[in-house]
Amino acid sequence: SRDIKIAPSILSADFADFGREIQAIEAQGADWVHVDVMDGHFVPNLTFGPPAVAAFRKHVKTVMDVHLMIAPVDPYIEAFAEAGADIITAHVEAGPHIHRTLQAIRATGKKAGVALNPGTPAEAIAHVLDLTDLVCVMTVNPGFGGQKFIDMRDKIRSLRAMIGDRPIHIEIDGGVTQETAPLVAEAGADVLVAGSAVFKGGSVATPAPYGENIRAI
Ligand code: DX5
Ligand code: ZN
Repeated sequence: SRDIKIAPSILSADFADFGREIQAIEAQGADWVHVDVMDGHFVPNLTFGPPAVAAFRKHVKTVMDVHLMIAPVDPYIEAFAEAGADIITAHVEAGPHIHRTLQAIRATGKKAGVALNPGTPAEAIAHVLDLTDLVCVMTVNPGFGGQKFIDMRDKIRSLRAMIGDRPIHIEIDGGVTQETAPLVAEAGADVLVAGSAVFKGGSVATPAPYGENIRAI
């Protein structure tokens, strides 16, 4: 069976204490750290940019999986590569030139990801698979953590069939909990992003039980 990686999203972490939060999730079993960059244009929310990602890099010991929910994306690829991203994922919906965008990400030496919103068919990336290291299947409409899972199992199965034996991760992003994780794993996913499911249950006094939450997924 496929071994599943868990990539906690720091969108649900304490925005006043990212260093400690990153150290905690990695110490307690996170495989990757998922970093949600939002520009208030492609999505109706605004998070952080290259300077913040460079600061996160000082704490991330595993893989920094940077999810760019921005448009246009091409002007910022270099900056996020410089900031230390290991994987840079762009949305196919962010502009007309996903082929060129993935080439540009690969040219920085980083792994190239492409993200598909719930309304976007798997076929949208049929012609860029050889430029892709990761497909991020959105199971919420992007912009916020804590949203309800949208079932994309048919798309995941289609992608698995399209990918064949290419070394491409299928990452699921949004509404992943201990209830929904088995559904998407069975459909063919191998990386699960989880924000609220990992960071839930904490307080100022007592941080969330990250390890328990990660293992539950
Ligand atoms: C949403 C982000 C997701 C989000 C996941 O736009 O891309 O990564 O942080 O959060 P949960 O797991 O709470 O749905
Ligand atoms: Zn994300």
